Amino acid sequence: MDKRLFITFEGPDGSGKTTIIKMVAKYLKNNNIDFVLTREPGGSLIAEQIRNIILNPNNLELSSTTEALLYAASRAQHFNEVIEPALMNNKLVLCDRFIDSSLAYQGVARGLGIDEVMEINRFAIKDVLPDLTIFFDLDPIIGLNRINNSEFREINRLDLEEKAFHYQVYEGYLKIVKMYQKRFKVVDAHKPIEEVYNNVINIIMEQLNR
Ligand code: TYD
Repeated sequence: MDKRLFITFEGPDGSGKTTIIKMVAKYLKNNNIDFVLTREPGGSLIAEQIRNIILNPNNLELSSTTEALLYAASRAQHFNEVIEPALMNNKLVLCDRFIDSSLAYQGVARGLGIDEVMEINRFAIKDVLPDLTIFFDLDPIIGLNRINNSEFREINRLDLEEKAFHYQVYEGYLKIVKMYQKRFKVVDAHKPIEEVYNNVINIIMEQLNR
């Protein structure tokens, strides 16, 4: 089955989206549904190099504007090399974080403005927005605790921000979900992982069978 569909996963750090996206990939494989799995920031060789600059914990002087432009640059490269060709081939694309991360983190939490950050990103992705965005709704402090208790997760520059920053990210997401209601589906990420997984599979299969 081939269907052009662009689905993104969004949420605060530690909300479990990366774990769930891998489980979804397994499910799709077992059911012979073709897909491309990718992530941001990164997702292609050049985009990953930009990711390393952004997330390097030593780059404390990086300005908010530079940060937003680097995320957009990384996204432009990733979009060009991976997402756009896959969509042109009528593939299902699953992406761990995309434009809404920039709107929430840079637009709201860094205070650059949702509209301003949207503008540079529209340029980067040629106005192509996801068909569906799944928001993992989780109290950001619970997310941070999950990260700090995980031996596998590397701590990056953004994890080092104050708790207030992570609350602003979360508030930002809630605002964006409201602004783009049609595109968003919200899952309660406080629930046990199996339950979150089942909810996400139902949402994706419903969209695929439309
Ligand atoms: P990553 O290690 O990929 O985190 P996660 O596993 O939670 O997705 O690091 C990505 C970090 O970059 C994360 O803190 C969110 C942030 N980010 C932005 O601030 N803006 C963006 O546009 C993107 C894509 C990510």
